[in-house]
Amino acid sequence: MKVVTTREELRTARAELEVGPDTAGGDITVAGAARPSGVGRRSVGLVPTMGFLHEGHLSLVRRAREENDATVVSIFVNPTQFGPSEDLEAYPRDLDHDLALLDGAGVDLVWTPQVEDVYPAGFDTYVTPGGVADVLEGARRPGHFRGVATIISILFHLCAPDRAYFGQKDAQQVAVIRQLVRDLGLPVEIVACPIVREPDGLAMSSRNTYLAAADRPAALVLSRALQAAGRAWADGEGDAEALRTILRDVITAEPRAVVDYVSVADPRTLAELTAVDPAVGALASLAVRVGAPRLIDNLVLAPRA
Ligand code: PAF
Repeated sequence: MKVVTTREELRTARAELEVGPDTAGGDITVAGAARPSGVGRRSVGLVPTMGFLHEGHLSLVRRAREENDATVVSIFVNPTQFGPSEDLEAYPRDLDHDLALLDGAGVDLVWTPQVEDVYPAGFDTYVTPGGVADVLEGARRPGHFRGVATIISILFHLCAPDRAYFGQKDAQQVAVIRQLVRDLGLPVEIVACPIVREPDGLAMSSRNTYLAAADRPAALVLSRALQAAGRAWADGEGDAEALRTILRDVITAEPRAVVDYVSVADPRTLAELTAVDPAVGALASLAVRVGAPRLIDNLVLAPRA
């Protein structure tokens, strides 16, 4: 496993990944665009992360390895996606442990840039996503998705991946990145991987480390609320406000939890729904403060056959 820091080192190491047997075979068609394979063309899967890796990240790495000839992981706590009062300084970091996990997982290349490698002196170009970034997390964290869209654009440009892997846990992030890829015509296939949960149902997140032991059981209220809404949807409830009420009621029954938002929205635009179209389904999502941390979780209400 190669570990590089500067943009130049990344570019060189990325080019070196091209050399080798074309085990995927033939041209690779992604998102409607075909990259010519040429002799020895190897496909590359990218897993962008902010480090402090857990099983959720490793599931993305495994999927990337299954579907590509080479796997690249980036580890970068991206300052432009944190608001002034957010946890940039406190965000958990453990680079040595991360690298040991990635080495064990068979990753080929890791980019661990410093802030000045990503944002050199004089950097002044940002990618501002549209309406899908203005609701839910975007409404509570102004500028967050501008920072995400900017770092993802830089990463896609420098790594030139065929596929990029993201956790469905950050469903709005996936929607914003899909829109970015569509709008700018980027030749990258976006792969959203299922949420990985602790055995008791808590969605894995690097920020779970902020949970006080006394609050840990209360954090299960997020997955419980989503399961309740999922059951109601499966039983035929299609009124979005009724589904939001189910989410809110489960959470307010837990005294240690404070609702930030509950949402039942169009899965692509994230606009709140009145009635869920059975042919389209919806994304049920929520943000809840449990003690110090604000936790998010979601459930896809799949279309009814
Ligand atoms: O999901 C994350 O960890 C980050 O938002 C990402 C995609 C690595 C961009 O900094």
